[in-house]
Amino acid sequence: MKPVRKAIFPVAGFGTRFLPATKAVPKEMLPVVDRPLIQYAVDEARAAGIEQMIFVTGRNKYAIEDYFDAAYEIESDLAAKNKTQFLDILESTRLAPGKAAFVRQQQMLGLGHAVGCARDLVGDEPFAVLLPDELLWNPGNPCLKQMIATYENKGGNVVAVLEIPEDQTHKYGIVDPGAVDGAVTEVRKMVEKPAAGTAPSRLALVGRYILQPEIFALLDKGERGAGGEIQLTDAMAKLIGSQAFHAVTFDGDRHDCGDNAGFIQANIALALERPEIADSVRAFIRKIV
Ligand code: G1P
Repeated sequence: MKPVRKAIFPVAGFGTRFLPATKAVPKEMLPVVDRPLIQYAVDEARAAGIEQMIFVTGRNKYAIEDYFDAAYEIESDLAAKNKTQFLDILESTRLAPGKAAFVRQQQMLGLGHAVGCARDLVGDEPFAVLLPDELLWNPGNPCLKQMIATYENKGGNVVAVLEIPEDQTHKYGIVDPGAVDGAVTEVRKMVEKPAAGTAPSRLALVGRYILQPEIFALLDKGERGAGGEIQLTDAMAKLIGSQAFHAVTFDGDRHDCGDNAGFIQANIALALERPEIADSVRAFIRKIV
């Protein structure tokens, strides 16, 4: 079984829900406490052993590339002032040359199209996809690491899922579950944004995927699905039957940072885990609620 060495981060979206901030700042650069959203996804990938990060970007997303580069002026200034704790933080966020690649999605045709844009950079090997909007939080055993454990056991394709309320199923990719073995469920079918009342289960895709390269030929067909977009879910659904396909129920906390309320909640939840600010944040919340 080939190891999963590469990860795709689709980051071309306009971030409409975060206008006006996203007029000038990519959504993925908005901070949760003090780290941009994209950093959480990259850290998760690194913790799962991913070696190469592939960002599918768009116009006005330069800040993401700059962010993972060295920051010479700041670093030399911090070094001169002997502020080593900040230097260490900067060092930990940098991606070495060759470990980060950027490709542009030239048309906004959906998630499946975005993933397809990375095809030549991925080549003929399995890869991960992480949607940075979904902040999946379990620092002890990050989501992609949980999925890699299943991949090493079962091979094929692995997606992360969580049970969501019935009235939310129309917003997500939903899995039709087969045999269940602990946190691992066989996937029989998959449907993107099913109409209300038609979802095969309450198990929703939460933005983490391990996929085989055969998906690219299916994405290339450019077939349109929900919302008139080229959907990753539709291409995945076509792999079922010819390749192993499993869902792992994520063990951890999910914050939907594509949503304004979810983004604020992520900030509060993660702030409460930071010893240096937790007490004052907690005291403030107690005071105002
Ligand atoms: C995308 C996927 C969907 C998945 C969701 C998770 O939808 O198409 O299958 O459930 O991410 O956040 P989007 O949120 O881009 O509409």
